[in-house]
Parts: sequence; C-alpha cells; structure tokens
Amino acid sequence: MQIFHQKEALIQFLKKEKIENKTIGLVPTMGALHQGHLSLVEKALNDNNTVVVSIFVNPTQFDNKTDLEKYPKTWEKDLENLKKVSDNILIFAPSAEDIYDNKVASETFDFDGLENEMEGKFRSGHFDGVGTIVKKLFTIVQPDRAYFGEKDFQQLQIIRKMVEKHNLPLTIIGCPISREDNGLAMSSRNERLPSDLREKASFIFKTIQKAKEKFGTESAIDTVNWIEEQFRQQPFFKLEYAEIANEKTLKPVKTKKENEHYRLFVAVYANDIRLIDNVALN
Ligand code: PAF
Repeated sequence: MQIFHQKEALIQFLKKEKIENKTIGLVPTMGALHQGHLSLVEKALNDNNTVVVSIFVNPTQFDNKTDLEKYPKTWEKDLENLKKVSDNILIFAPSAEDIYDNKVASETFDFDGLENEMEGKFRSGHFDGVGTIVKKLFTIVQPDRAYFGEKDFQQLQIIRKMVEKHNLPLTIIGCPISREDNGLAMSSRNERLPSDLREKASFIFKTIQKAKEKFGTESAIDTVNWIEEQFRQQPFFKLEYAEIANEKTLKPVKTKKENEHYRLFVAVYANDIRLIDNVALN
C-alpha cells in the first residue's frame, strides 16, 4: 500500500500509471471504514488495474459542527482493514489545506433540483459540499470509474448528474447497501450507537421491508402514513422523514405509474445519531 498525503505527489504517480494505459478506480470515503466500503474497494480492484481509496472527512459537507467533530476517525484500523483486502491500494489522505488550496469553501451546484429533495431539505449546503469534494477528487485522480454505495442513494444520483452535466469522462458505479446481521444499513455512524440501540435498530430495516410489501397493494401516501405510525408507536427512533420517490427525479410519488422505478427513503434519529436507509420498491 502506498499512502499519499499531498495531491501533487499522487498526480505525478498516476501520470505514470496512465502512460502505461492502466485503468484507475476511485473509492472516495471519509474513513471509519466498514464492510460496505471494503466491498466497494473489492469491486474497484476487480474492475481496474489501479485503485485509489481517498480518506478525507470533508468539512464543507457538514451543516452541523458537532456532527463533524464527532465523526469517527479510525486511521490505523482503516489501514489494517484495507491491507487485509489488498496490498495493492493507493491511499489518498490529504489535509484540508492541501485539497482545498487553503480556501475551505463549497462551490455552488445546480443538480437540476435533485439537491432540493429529502436530505437537501434537512442538511443545508450538504450536496454543494459533496459536489465540491468529489469534483476535486475526480480532477486529481482522473479515474476511469468511481464507486459509491446506494445507502447514500441521493448522493449517488447527484454525482451521476454532475458527471452528466459537466461531461466528465468516467463511469459512476453504484453498489448495493451492505447490512449488519440484523438488517441495519452499514454506516460509519453505527459505531456511535450504544449496543442496545444498535440491536434495536433492526426495527428500521424491518419497517421498510414491510412497507415495501404494502406498496405492492397500497398507494404511496398510505404506505408513508403507515411508516409514520410505526415510528410513533415506538420510543427509540425518531423519524425525520419517510418518502417514496421516483429513482431518477427523486420527486415524491403521487400516483404510481407503470415502468417507473420507485424507492423508499427514511432518515431516523437514534439519540443524536442520524441514520439513513432506503430500499428499491419495484
Ligand atoms: O459518502 C461519503 O462518504 C462522502 O459523502 C464522500 C462521497 C466520500 C464525499 O466526502
């Protein structure tokens, strides 16, 4: 494994790889790696000659200072986990000054309204921050393919939109959600859950699975009302939103139409820890 803390050193290294016609895969992460991240790295290693894993907790995508401060940092464990997957990984772990050229601020993006739905309503400026850092990473690494998990499905669609609108020469690969044994979607934030809540969080996955069944026979509004009622009846998790949306536009579904793909999205608080999950409905 080779570790780069400065973008210029990585750029010079990758120049040589490109001259040798090696394909490059990028897995952007904020560290605190779990099996979900490692499955992206495995896929990237399968598809490409060279794989870069970036580890950078990006300040501009946090609208909440405490959330940023409390974001888990597990550098040594991350290196160990990556080493177990392969010795042949390039790690890019820049400082904020290096990657932002001393101006730690977001660009403003227009993602054709995708940024205003769901997470966008609750996390002001979040997707500008994500767009800014991901675009910087694409510029530095110039990957052939970049890998993102479907847990952050809205983020995945927004990055696809950015690639389309800016004509960026790479393919975005969306990868399925990895789940803990009880169904909880894997997330770096799960580390902050007390063990009893982590157990009880199976409730979230069970509820969205049952909602998926319901959506087969009931309307979107009735299904969402049912989810809201399930959350009201238990004391451990506070539902921020449940939304059934069109996978492409991310707009809430009013009437079901044939040949459209729908997905159910939820955001939930367990104490002060915010969890998101989603499931394809058809
Ligand atoms: O999904 C994440 O971990 C982050 O949003 C990303 C894509 C690494 C950008 O900081």
